[in-house]
Amino acid sequence: MKKQKSIKIITKYWGEIDPNSLESYRRKSGYEALRKALRQDSEVILQEIIKSGLRGRGGAGFLTGAKWQLAAEKNSSKKYFIANLNESEPGVFKDRLLAENNPHQIVEGLIIAAYAVGATRAFIYLNPCYKKAKMLLENALREAYEKKILGKSVMGSFFELEIEVFEGAGSYVCGEESALVNSMEGRRAEPRKRPPFVCEQGLENFPTVVNNVETLANIPEIILNGADNYRHLGAIDSPGTKLFCIDGSVESPGLYEALLGVTTRELIYDYAGGVQRGKDFLLAQIGGVGGFFAPTGLLDEPLVYGRNTKLALGSGGILVLDKMVDWKKLMVSWMRFFQRESCGKCVPCREGTFRALAILRRLEQGDFSEDDLKDLKKIIWALEKTSFCAFGRFAANGIKEVMRYELVQDFKERLI
Ligand SMILES: Cc1cc2nc3c(=O)[nH]c(=O)nc-3n(C[C@H](O)[C@H](O)[C@H](O)COP(=O)(O)O)c2cc1C
Ligand code: SF4
Repeated sequence: MKKQKSIKIITKYWGEIDPNSLESYRRKSGYEALRKALRQDSEVILQEIIKSGLRGRGGAGFLTGAKWQLAAEKNSSKKYFIANLNESEPGVFKDRLLAENNPHQIVEGLIIAAYAVGATRAFIYLNPCYKKAKMLLENALREAYEKKILGKSVMGSFFELEIEVFEGAGSYVCGEESALVNSMEGRRAEPRKRPPFVCEQGLENFPTVVNNVETLANIPEIILNGADNYRHLGAIDSPGTKLFCIDGSVESPGLYEALLGVTTRELIYDYAGGVQRGKDFLLAQIGGVGGFFAPTGLLDEPLVYGRNTKLALGSGGILVLDKMVDWKKLMVSWMRFFQRESCGKCVPCREGTFRALAILRRLEQGDFSEDDLKDLKKIIWALEKTSFCAFGRFAANGIKEVMRYELVQDFKERLI
């Protein structure tokens, strides 16, 4: 059963509005937040987002207002804004559904965001496999231009903005913001050394803010109903709602919007219909393929963004596993993903994922030695501690969790 009292921001009008029609969006107060924003100074809008405490929904949970401020304060002839819709993580499909169900919400959030930081050019960086989302987003932009919501004078104001959909290069690392910018410039999609940060020196070296599309979809709500109202939703340091993609051994896998601070137990039992009949719950992996494990003892831990959380939320993927799970197969499938997606820039990740996959395949085939275990541990350490970007940490984490919870007999036996 779905939780009755849950508050919806992102999915509020899904199914009620026609994603192909600006008029349909307008009938649900669409573009009213933009109208309100344009009546105020851009600095006022920036302060409102800072006050709201909104955190990015793309993974790291960085404070959105703080990021915008860094770009807004830069004195530059040009600034860019990019909505990140790369979404290439297994089991995560929230951004695609957002674009397919309410594309104008993304466009409205992006226009307000660009106004707040002073950007006059913006892009929606899209996963190239998302064909339906592309069609709907391009239609939304076309309608917005026709109605003078985009272009030389946004809604009759002095603000000018061009937005276009940019089809990405089609890899997981393209979603990392500096790799994304590289790929837009026609370079290899590899992360850049920081500082300088993308918001200071990004696309063509101009200040560029990159935000996840779910982050941007929160902006109209904050502007329309006020930061104070938003701050009171969800958890204290982590306000608002979050889209969760719940998969695995549950009765109703799918996408659910819940207030931040929700627990894994609530998500499984109140939203996703509980553990599948006939299955025994073992644990849930929180935050996607590189996520942490929530066994029964952590099921009541609130899911929030921020440093002090035991379960990093990432982009909101939750995989529920039962006691029959084949850990060896699962670890091979994780590592196959990371080995294929590694951009190859740094040795620990390029070589480490390749070698870890070979070892895990031997484990799966029952040909696993004590030396393999020692090597695997060294590789996991190197991936976590010495990789150039966060991808290496993600690649290591699942295997580390399996070792930590002693879920594979071969690991235990060879440790003694
Ligand atoms: C390997 C890797 C892949 C990422 N993929 C995505 C992605 O697909 N979408 C996304 O919004 N952020 C992704 N991120 C996070 C972005 O670098 C960036 O932090 C985010 O887009 C910022 O938006 P936010 O502040 O609204 O979360 C990825 C990060 C890493 C390290
Ligand atoms: S950790 Fe992996 S994805 Fe990141 S830079 Fe190194 S090779 Fe590329």
